[in-house]
Amino acid sequence: MKHLLGINELSTDEIEDYLEHAKFYADSLENGSWDKNKLHNKIILTLFFENSTRTLTSFDIASKRLGANTVVWHPKISSVHKDESFTDTIDTLSEMKPDAIVIRHSEYGAPSFVANRVNCPVINGGDSWHEHPTQALLDALTMIQEKKTLEGLNVALCGDVAHSRVANSNAHLLKKMGAQVKVIAPEFLIPHDPKGAFPLDGIEKFTSMEEGLPGTDVIMMLRIQKERMDKSLIPDTQTYFKDFGLTQERLKIAKKDVIVMHPGPMNRGIEIADDVADDPRHSMISRQVANGIPTRMAVLDMLIGG
Ligand code: NCD
Repeated sequence: MKHLLGINELSTDEIEDYLEHAKFYADSLENGSWDKNKLHNKIILTLFFENSTRTLTSFDIASKRLGANTVVWHPKISSVHKDESFTDTIDTLSEMKPDAIVIRHSEYGAPSFVANRVNCPVINGGDSWHEHPTQALLDALTMIQEKKTLEGLNVALCGDVAHSRVANSNAHLLKKMGAQVKVIAPEFLIPHDPKGAFPLDGIEKFTSMEEGLPGTDVIMMLRIQKERMDKSLIPDTQTYFKDFGLTQERLKIAKKDVIVMHPGPMNRGIEIADDVADDPRHSMISRQVANGIPTRMAVLDMLIGG
């Protein structure tokens, strides 16, 4: 049984395969040429124990674009609030025999735990600060559309890298595909643990935007993950923006044709200035959202499309 639990465990061939399928669906959505019944009679169960706007909705739309039915399970109206254990909840839902499960959870490794208990493919929609594989795939699709190849691309991951599953999955994917990855963040938001999820090898670290940005092709901004850190560590937002916010002035330090990315949700005026987020010359933020659909169609097709 094939699952998509993380980028770390994928080979470069598998990543390429996902990206080729994602590109196929991105092109097909433009010209209306895909098989709209590819997942006819399949049921996709989404279990989001954490909030989501982009990921949950785009899995739902991607499933429906392929003719599948979705069942959106909400923790708020479930028996989790009658003290049912996580394991019993998963076993119960598994008995209903969905064809695939998409799960988001605040516990590190929850999707792997679920994959070991159920009889269908499991897709990780984000677990703690561990992995968010479909986000990294849609980000890679966006970079390839703009820059043709990931090989040799100079990518800066900026902001709260230490608590970001998006940064982790992107770092794994980009390194495997031959990009040059660097981190720009305050010292306390840079990952240091050699046993942690973030791959440290060969990744340059900078604690100043001015020093880190020269030569950059892709700037990926990240939200401060307040929910995953000791609140006393968080600097006041004005100081953070002054030191690490992406402004038009700082954009000029990177390459002339630099692209700006952000997985969302964005905190404008904290990690990114309004006029950068909305700059049509550089910002790929809406394209990333749009690419969530073909990427998730590709993943669903590859796991349960037969
Ligand atoms: C992120 C997530 O939830 O991991 N958003 C997303 O899925 N596009 C990033 C975040 O919460 O900051």
